[in-house]
Amino acid sequence: MSEAGALLAADAEAAGLSWPSAPWPRGGGFEERLAENPFIMAPMAGVSDRAWRLMARAGGAATAYSEMVSVAGLHYASDKTWELVIPDGEEPEIAIQLFGSDPALFEEAASKVASRLGHRLAFLDVNMACPVAKVARKGEGVALMDDPRRADAIVRACRRGVAKAGLGTPVTAKIRLGRTPERPVGVSFARALEDAGAAAIAVHGRFGSQGYAGRSSDEAIAEVARAVDVPVLASGDALSADRCVGLLRASGAKGVLVARGSYGNPWIFSDARALLQGEAPRERAPELRLRALELHLRLLDATGGHILKARQIACHYLKGLPGAAQARRRIMRCEELDEFLELIGDARREVGRREAVR
Ligand SMILES: Cc1cc2nc3c(=O)[nH]c(=O)nc-3n(C[C@H](O)[C@H](O)[C@H](O)COP(=O)(O)O)c2cc1C
Repeated sequence: MSEAGALLAADAEAAGLSWPSAPWPRGGGFEERLAENPFIMAPMAGVSDRAWRLMARAGGAATAYSEMVSVAGLHYASDKTWELVIPDGEEPEIAIQLFGSDPALFEEAASKVASRLGHRLAFLDVNMACPVAKVARKGEGVALMDDPRRADAIVRACRRGVAKAGLGTPVTAKIRLGRTPERPVGVSFARALEDAGAAAIAVHGRFGSQGYAGRSSDEAIAEVARAVDVPVLASGDALSADRCVGLLRASGAKGVLVARGSYGNPWIFSDARALLQGEAPRERAPELRLRALELHLRLLDATGGHILKARQIACHYLKGLPGAAQARRRIMRCEELDEFLELIGDARREVGRREAVR
C-alpha cells in the first residue's frame, strides 16, 4: 500500500470520509455510473492534484479529472507534464483532460496517455472551455468554440489515439456556452462534437468572456442537454450540496462537476448524494474539519505536492472556524509540513477549550 493509502486507511473515517472509493466502471458505463453517483470532481489547474483528488474520492466523488495537461508538453515528454497525468497508486482511475489546438498532437497524446494508464483511464477529455488569455490566444481552450472544424478534428484524433493504444476509452469534451455572449454557439457546437464521437459533453454555463464572474446559466446547459443524446455533465456554481442537486435537476444533465464547491469541503459529494436520496446532509464539527485538513496536508506531502499549496488549502478548511483570521496570518508564514501540523494542533486545542467553556 502506498503512503497515501496508509494515511487514508488510518484517518479517513475520523475525518468523516470513506475509503476505499468505488471505482468508475471499465469500458464506458457513463450512464449507469452517473445514475448511481452523478457528482464528479471537476478539472482545476493548480488545484486538482493527487491529494485533492484523493480527498474528493474519499468525500464521495464518482471519479475525478486531472488538471489540464498540455498536448505539446506530452509531445516534448516533459517530466513535469507527465506528473500531471500519472495518478497516485491509490486512485482507482482518473479522467485526463488535455488542452492544445493541433489535432496531430492530440492523437499522439491520447495514444501515449491511454497506453500508459490503460484501464485506469476512465475517459479522456478535451478542454474547450479555458478562457485564460495565454491559452485562448493560441487557439486553445475556449477559442476552439470559434473553430468547430478544428474541434471536430481534435475529438476524432483523440479517438484514433486511444484506438491505437488498443483501448475503447471514451473521449469527452468540456465546453462553455461560447466564447462571448455575441456568439452563443453552445447547442450547435455540442451537436458537432456528438457527431465527431464525443461520448459525453461537460458544459460550463458561462461564456469564455465571463471567466468565473456572473451567474452560470442552468437553462443554457439544459438547452444543450436537450439537444444531444450523449450525457451532459453540468458545471457552474455547484458551490454547495444543495446547489449541486439543484443544478442537476434544473439542467436535466446526467452529472454535475464540482469545482470551487470542493474548497475545504470534500464532503460536498456525499452530502449532495444524500440530498438527492432525500436524506439531510450531516453537520461537520470543527474538530472533524481540522482532522480532514490534517489528512489533506499529509496526503499533499505523501503524493509529492508542493507544500506551499498547503497555505490555500488550510485557509479553505479554516474558513468560519473560531480564530480563523488570526490563523490565516500564521498560515502565510508556514513553510514546512510540521509547521502546518503544529498550527492545526493549536487550532484543535482552541476548539476544545471553547467547547469546554460552553
Ligand atoms: C482554479 C480553477 C482552475 C480551473 N482549471 C480548469 C481546468 O484545468 N480545466 C477545465 O476544464 N476547467 C477548469 N476550471 C473550471 C472548473 O472546472 C469549472 O468548470 C468552473 O469553476 C465552474 O464551476 P464552479 O462555478 O462550480 O466552480 C477551473 C476553475 C478554477 C476555479
